[in-house]
Amino acid sequence: MQFVKYEQRGFVGIVTIDRQKALNALNSEVLGELEQTFDSISLEETRCVILTGAGEKSFVAGADIGEMSGLSKAEGEAFGKKGNDVFRKIEAFPIPVIAAINGFALGGGCELAMSCDIRIASENAVFAQPEVSLGITAGFGGTQRLARIIGLGKAKELLYTTNKMKADAALALGLVNAVYPLESLMDEAAKLAEKIARNAPIAVRATKKAINDGMQVGIDEAIVIEEKLFGSCFESEDQRNAMAAFVEKRKPDPFVNR
Ligand code: HXC
Repeated sequence: MQFVKYEQRGFVGIVTIDRQKALNALNSEVLGELEQTFDSISLEETRCVILTGAGEKSFVAGADIGEMSGLSKAEGEAFGKKGNDVFRKIEAFPIPVIAAINGFALGGGCELAMSCDIRIASENAVFAQPEVSLGITAGFGGTQRLARIIGLGKAKELLYTTNKMKADAALALGLVNAVYPLESLMDEAAKLAEKIARNAPIAVRATKKAINDGMQVGIDEAIVIEEKLFGSCFESEDQRNAMAAFVEKRKPDPFVNR
């Protein structure tokens, strides 16, 4: 692949968007490669994914403005759908995805980070939804996910004004979970991913599904979603082994993802 690199480190997969000459901006090719990369991740071998941008300046500086500049109405809609389909795939990916935001997260970059489960950022990260200054709406989920993550009032302010926000402000709003010096961002992301990967994979996956699916429906239906997924864990070898170890007052064996 030209623009998206993948590295497997134990149970953790690292996806890096690498189009540094355009600050990792998302054109159709990058979106296509991102989709292909997620499609090819082995869920047998991988328990958590880290998504980041190459270089020290930018996570993703948005959708590619050059590519978008001449689009017709139908082409604009198709471009939005292309990004939305990939981002939705990441949001619903069976295992957790951590965004390690190493600089600019603008427009589609902020939207990409918001499709991940957990966001951590470097101190030099900058967030904004600049779309209305370019004559468009946010189009890769920003009008929907930002309000769900930080609340309606602040989301509307950011989307209407295009104000840029530094990492500490994003932390205060809950848009990111933690901020680290740039040089330690990937180590911290790896620590977080490895911690997740040490837990029972089937239970982690069921937890992600329960949260995601439950957020789309009313509480009564959501609780039933949890009950079903909770119940399904009792068919796993990992549940039997972990609970037996507790009862027998011994250390559990490593989880086997069965
Ligand atoms: C295409 C981009 C780009 C983008 C940067 N580049 N962002 N190309 N699309 N989104 C390119 C520049 O053209 C330039 O290429 C190179 O990357 C370096 O950028 P500079 O501007 O020279 O760097 P700097 O002065 O440090 O400024 C960094 C920046 C600025 C503040 C991030 O590049 C910027 O404002 N970029 C646009 C950010 C933005 O508006 N994003 C939202 C896009 S709309 P050359 O060839 O000149 O060296 C969006 C909509 C999503 O994301 C939904 C779609 C459906």
